[in-house]
Amino acid sequence: MEKIFSNLHIDQGATLYTITGGGITAVVSDLGATLVRLMVPDASGKEDDVVLGYDTAKGYLEGTSYLGATVGRNANRIAGAAFTLGGKTYTMAANEGANNLHSGPDCYHTRLWTLAEQTRSSVKLALDSPNGDQGMPGNARIFVTYALDGNGGLHIVYDGKCDQATIFNMTNHSYFNLAGHQHPEKAIAQVLSLPGRHFCPDDAESIPTGETRSVEGTPMDFRSPKPICQDIDADYEPLHLQGGYDHNWEVFCNPCATLTDPESGRSMAVYTDCPGIQFYSGNFLNEDGKDGVHYGKHAGIALETQFYPDCIHKPDWAQPVVEAEKPYHSETVYRFSWK
Ligand code: GLA
Repeated sequence: MEKIFSNLHIDQGATLYTITGGGITAVVSDLGATLVRLMVPDASGKEDDVVLGYDTAKGYLEGTSYLGATVGRNANRIAGAAFTLGGKTYTMAANEGANNLHSGPDCYHTRLWTLAEQTRSSVKLALDSPNGDQGMPGNARIFVTYALDGNGGLHIVYDGKCDQATIFNMTNHSYFNLAGHQHPEKAIAQVLSLPGRHFCPDDAESIPTGETRSVEGTPMDFRSPKPICQDIDADYEPLHLQGGYDHNWEVFCNPCATLTDPESGRSMAVYTDCPGIQFYSGNFLNEDGKDGVHYGKHAGIALETQFYPDCIHKPDWAQPVVEAEKPYHSETVYRFSWK
């Protein structure tokens, strides 16, 4: 356990927890239950930090890109920043045009979480989110556990309970660069595979139109692995509207995504119990990151497992609603290999 973040803008100070297992080291902070560092060997055994992040707490508090962030209660967007649950309308803050993004502006990643449990290979953090927090119904107690399984897997496990029916749709917003975060120019050359047969086109405000469109014959087809840069500039309206990839794909099998850096030999397979995965190619990244590295456009790749964006307004899609006193449980595994 290491105290850091001397320029923290909140009173209590934040702590970094280091966990290790199977050749991987992860560093997690109680500031936001954030994944700060993830050291993974390459084919020759050389370790690199494969996630984007900041050096200071100030970075995490003021950054606008959700680097390494735990996002909840609702990840992604809610159109009109309002929803109806049990016949009652709940209003959130409109923090992206007229819509809500990541339950902000008072996001979980800017709060100090408390340590619930720690072992050599895992850390569990807790947050109390009171009734009305972010506009959400009910008093919720939420846990996020990061655990290394000794076999290349980083498990991120979400548990929650609320005294009213509420939305639980948690995700982790890490940006991956398997070449090492210090090589931002290499991130877009990573090879991605997404078995998803359909994706969700968005409107100009990044809200899904409600259509689920086949990837067949489009630049969104990652059913065979291809470098992210291959088709990102294709003349295709959904890419123009979002400035690159920033869309939800269906999850119908696992792994639901595999990212590879051919040069280092590192690979990461994503497993989840969520119905969707948002693939964001860092189109608007512009942040001063760890170790003095500047992260510009496409410097990292986010693969955020979650319910479909704005599903609360699309009754045909799986719903992120958990009834009062019922357990919420969700798990995503990022499984690394290097050869
Ligand atoms: C957030 C979202 C991403 C993307 C960016 C755009 O980070 O999680 O999917 O839409 O905003 O800036």
